Amino acid sequence: MNHRCIKKSFALVLFFSIIFSTTAIADGGMWLPMLLKDQKYQKMKENGLKLSAEDIYSINQSSLKDAIVQFGGGCTGELISNEGLLITNHHCGYGQIQKHSTIEHDYLTNGFWAMNRTEELPNPGLTVSFLVQMSDVSPHLLKGVSSEMSENERLSLIEQNKVILKKAVNDTCKYELEFEPFYQGNQYFMFVYEVFKDIRLVGAPPSSIGKFGGDTDNWMWPRHTGDFSLFRIYADKNNKPVDYAVDNVPYVPKKSLKIDIRGVKENDFTMVYGYPGHTEEYLFSDAVRFIVEKRDPTRIKLRDTKLAIMREQMLKSDKVRIQLSSKYAGVANGWKKWMGEIRGLERMNAVAVKTNFESDFEKWLAQDENRQKEYADLFPKFKTTYQNASEHALAREYIFESVFGVEAITFAAKVYKTAQNKDLTPEKLNQMLSSMSQGFFKDFDATTDQMVMEALFKIYYQDMIEVYQPDFFRTVEKKYSANFEKYAHDVFAKSIITNEERFNMWLKKADLKKLEADPIVQIYLSAISFYTTELAPVLYLHDNELSVLNRKYMKAQLEFAGDSVLFPDANFTLRVAFGKVGGYEPKDGVVYKHQTTLEGILEKEFIGAYDYEVDPKLKKLQSDKDFGIYGQDQTMPVCFSASNHTTGGNSGSPVMNAEGHLIGVNFDRNWEGTMSDVMYDPTQCRNIVLDIRYALFIIDKFAGAGYLLNEMDIVKN
Ligand code: ARG
Ligand code: GLU
Repeated sequence: MNHRCIKKSFALVLFFSIIFSTTAIADGGMWLPMLLKDQKYQKMKENGLKLSAEDIYSINQSSLKDAIVQFGGGCTGELISNEGLLITNHHCGYGQIQKHSTIEHDYLTNGFWAMNRTEELPNPGLTVSFLVQMSDVSPHLLKGVSSEMSENERLSLIEQNKVILKKAVNDTCKYELEFEPFYQGNQYFMFVYEVFKDIRLVGAPPSSIGKFGGDTDNWMWPRHTGDFSLFRIYADKNNKPVDYAVDNVPYVPKKSLKIDIRGVKENDFTMVYGYPGHTEEYLFSDAVRFIVEKRDPTRIKLRDTKLAIMREQMLKSDKVRIQLSSKYAGVANGWKKWMGEIRGLERMNAVAVKTNFESDFEKWLAQDENRQKEYADLFPKFKTTYQNASEHALAREYIFESVFGVEAITFAAKVYKTAQNKDLTPEKLNQMLSSMSQGFFKDFDATTDQMVMEALFKIYYQDMIEVYQPDFFRTVEKKYSANFEKYAHDVFAKSIITNEERFNMWLKKADLKKLEADPIVQIYLSAISFYTTELAPVLYLHDNELSVLNRKYMKAQLEFAGDSVLFPDANFTLRVAFGKVGGYEPKDGVVYKHQTTLEGILEKEFIGAYDYEVDPKLKKLQSDKDFGIYGQDQTMPVCFSASNHTTGGNSGSPVMNAEGHLIGVNFDRNWEGTMSDVMYDPTQCRNIVLDIRYALFIIDKFAGAGYLLNEMDIVKN
């Protein structure tokens, strides 16, 4: 690099740092609804919000929060009728839709629509939770906690305090209580949930609509996915949660959302109200460096290999394609996101933004002796902590991605743990193992898995030095001269875990000794023993030390921020994000609009890929321009993008307008913006939303289930 370049990139870094150290913190954010009034409500009003803070969150009157649920432990959903009807994403209901699907009733391919209440399908194990209320319980949980305590003492005291508080609050056991740390454990909140257990599938479009674009379009804008499914919550006669029973009745919610089909315009106010899962916005620079340089590249490299093998095998046979399709989607989802994340963080110069922030922070420290005393040791300690454990942390990635990336090993772990459970009677054990194995073997392709093992183990072996490898690698060296192909072949040929017949033979006696001698179980045991004896002790100290440092750094960052409020990192608790409908400029010379339409679906079909197949019925509706009341300007809107700060878990979240009406269902982010889990860029980060008009059009015009619209409250003009 010549001198001019150095100067230029330095100037660029400075330029970016100035922009982002002010705006990155000022923009974006996932706010606690209870605190909205004192924090962001004013700004939301200035941006167009027409509701009061109590309309959004209140415990005294019904408010928008009463229409929103945590759906199935990983997504969000919202009530759209006062008869318990809820909408979430197709990819959130995917597991349920798949479970109901058979060759004769292939709901994944053809969609499913209950034409009356008796046709709705129950889903054992699926729950939805309503937040009843939240409160700051820091004084209770942090009672007796002092800075002299070790991290373990602190955590165990907090656990004891939780038990005391739980007893005092939950005397009727009507509700479920959860306690969550905020701001890296500087604060604790309690969440009270009412959990419903009889949730029935009402409708889902065919995958060619609900998953249109598949993994090709995943994390991308412009997007054309009709990513929604419908469920109904059932309750007992008193409107309370109860286990499934045929004569349960539709739940009457305190609140359901009005659906607004007047359409969206650029710059319209929007908010997303839901359950974002995990962000890391306040990291020290070395942590961001680790993500960009080590963590994400390692995960991507291993998954590149795995996905290529899966793809090749899926193309060879329809059976394998069906067996692996959902797993492939899961592996590809993270893989693609991390690629976007690295790109985004590099583009933003995220490490430089952080180090710049850190030098401003140090100047601020220098202004005050007490601050100096309290925080001066933070950065040196962060540095040594990250230095000391970064190889261990990387080895953890290899263990999880490559050893536990082999399906047979993950299954072996489950079988072994179950077989070891002394509390189970032989009959019960047999029953559990046999149902586990049926689930596993149904979607297991041993050939693919063997190839995955061979390839991933080879990469692990080449990339990490011996001290970071579990012992089984010594066997591969000694007995197989590091020939991974032969090793994987032998292991798969012998193991009872990799073959249903052998497994069932073993199951007749379920002999633990024999299981322990199995080559796949041996790999699992070797990996676990390496993890617990070599990695865990170091990582445990490392993680503990980081908890202490992060908590202190967070406290300091809050003080440094002064009057500007910082939002707490996402932790799968209810949050409000707000922004504007809008497109963006992903690169030089390219401008993305904020809205896509049905015409775009046909453009994509023209490309001819599997992910872009279009149902003939949908094509006909388009050529007839038969859009009912849902179309606009002779076309059918499909998705739109907006600048709400969202993350995984926000899938299915309601996207609302200034009046709190439902205008769309959140389902993704754009590729250029996936780094927002670490650093938000207002110019690039967009959430991707299913336009609610497209969902209604599909229900009514495509599926002929228009009777469902009768129970909705639709705002037309
Ligand atoms: N990227 C979205 C999310 O993180 C959607 C994933 C499901 N879709 C898919 N094609 N894999 O969950
Ligand atoms: N698809 C994600 C989910 O399932 C939401 C997209 C994101 O990560 O923002 O929650």
